[in-house]
Amino acid sequence: SGAYGFRDQLQDGMAFVYAEPSVTRAHILRAAGRQFREGDVQHWWHEPSGRGVRTRFSDDLAWLPFVADHYVRVSGHKDVWDELAPYLEMRELAPHEHELYDKPQVSETVGTLYEHCVRALDRACTQGEHGLPLMGIGDWNDGMSRVGVEGKGESVWLAWFLAATLRRFARHADDRSDGAVADRFRRRADGYVAAVERHAWDGAWYRRAYFDDGSPLGSASEPECKIDAIAQSWSVLSEAGEHERARTAMQAVNEYLVRENERMILLLTPPFDHTTHDPGYIKGYVPGVRENGAQYTHAALWTVLATAGLGDGERAFHLYDLLNPLTHAKTREDAERYCVEPYVIAADVYDAPGHKGRGGWTWYTGSASWSYRAAVEGILGFTKRGNTLTLSPCIPPSWKQFGIDYRHGATMYNIRVENPEGVSTGIVAVAIDGTVLDDGVIPLADDGATHQVTLVMGALAGAGR
Ligand code: GLC
Repeated sequence: SGAYGFRDQLQDGMAFVYAEPSVTRAHILRAAGRQFREGDVQHWWHEPSGRGVRTRFSDDLAWLPFVADHYVRVSGHKDVWDELAPYLEMRELAPHEHELYDKPQVSETVGTLYEHCVRALDRACTQGEHGLPLMGIGDWNDGMSRVGVEGKGESVWLAWFLAATLRRFARHADDRSDGAVADRFRRRADGYVAAVERHAWDGAWYRRAYFDDGSPLGSASEPECKIDAIAQSWSVLSEAGEHERARTAMQAVNEYLVRENERMILLLTPPFDHTTHDPGYIKGYVPGVRENGAQYTHAALWTVLATAGLGDGERAFHLYDLLNPLTHAKTREDAERYCVEPYVIAADVYDAPGHKGRGGWTWYTGSASWSYRAAVEGILGFTKRGNTLTLSPCIPPSWKQFGIDYRHGATMYNIRVENPEGVSTGIVAVAIDGTVLDDGVIPLADDGATHQVTLVMGALAGAGR
């Protein structure tokens, strides 16, 4: 429709931090300017008019600090925190209203990006009966629109997402000597993590949410949507899940949600069909289509990243390869089943009878940007922090070498990684232009030259990622 989606384009922007960070920065500030004075944001808006929709989606606003943290960590450009952006003014939703489409006024009140983020997190941090954040009319999963529509339902995924964002943001608060914010955010994060571990562990995986009436969603005790991938992958991606549980939860994802033959990673299973518990418009999709139990590639890539996060390079690449559209069109028969272009990422791949393996909604930016990050960050382990670079690969042991040619400003870094012992993780030697770097940290100096960086992988004492 040509609108900017608040959470979608912020996530897309995260993929630009290496090749063109100014794109990420400009969009972060654009998005900050779509925040209401009360801290919530437009779910989507059209430019140039600025018309858009004010809603009760619970996660949108927290993507601003989540993405700003990523930008600052990778680029090192802390000055972005002091950039100014306006707030918006519009009437608040009445208690019975779920959304309101209108043209807001641009307020005369402006705030720094840092203030916008604090306001977003203060507003995002709600709490229900289990101590988890409220689901509102949906979280990342737009289709779960009635799980918490009465204002009581809670989201487990959102608890992980907020815990990660609060903890990461607290480090920037430390950096700015804002102890009050740092403490408040760390306390809230700890509270969410404790609430998840206390109330959302289902026995072999994490539950996805609680309905308004307090019954669980994403539980083995239910006939439909017994397990949802994102409550598991984010136990790892948030770095907040209890380690053994997170491993067990990811095993359950492999067992119930990875379809080797169809080369798919499902969002949840079984799909919603007959349940009397109404999760929302997700149930309006045919079982096995889109969010309703198909492969939702955006979330499938979080499964890949989480697998890499656990240090399993063989599995991470295997899962990544399952999603690779080229592998869905190897034969004429495959191509006729997959139907869509095999050279771009599809938003979803159907699991519905009669449409199994068919791709939908290609050229989908949310999946493309996370796919790029899963490869570059998750598998190749490219870790840029300001003007330094380290590599922490998580690759199949059978890979003998790989390379990355990275352009930093006007400077080329030709990076070659050798894996003589056939390990999955662990770097034992790093050199730049023949000079050994004892700490393994590659300095990025934009000196216009071409540098040769060589790394050797090998077994480390007490290995891990
Ligand atoms: C669509 C929306 C995105 C949402 C996802 C899952 O892709 O654009 O915002 O997170 O569906 O429901």
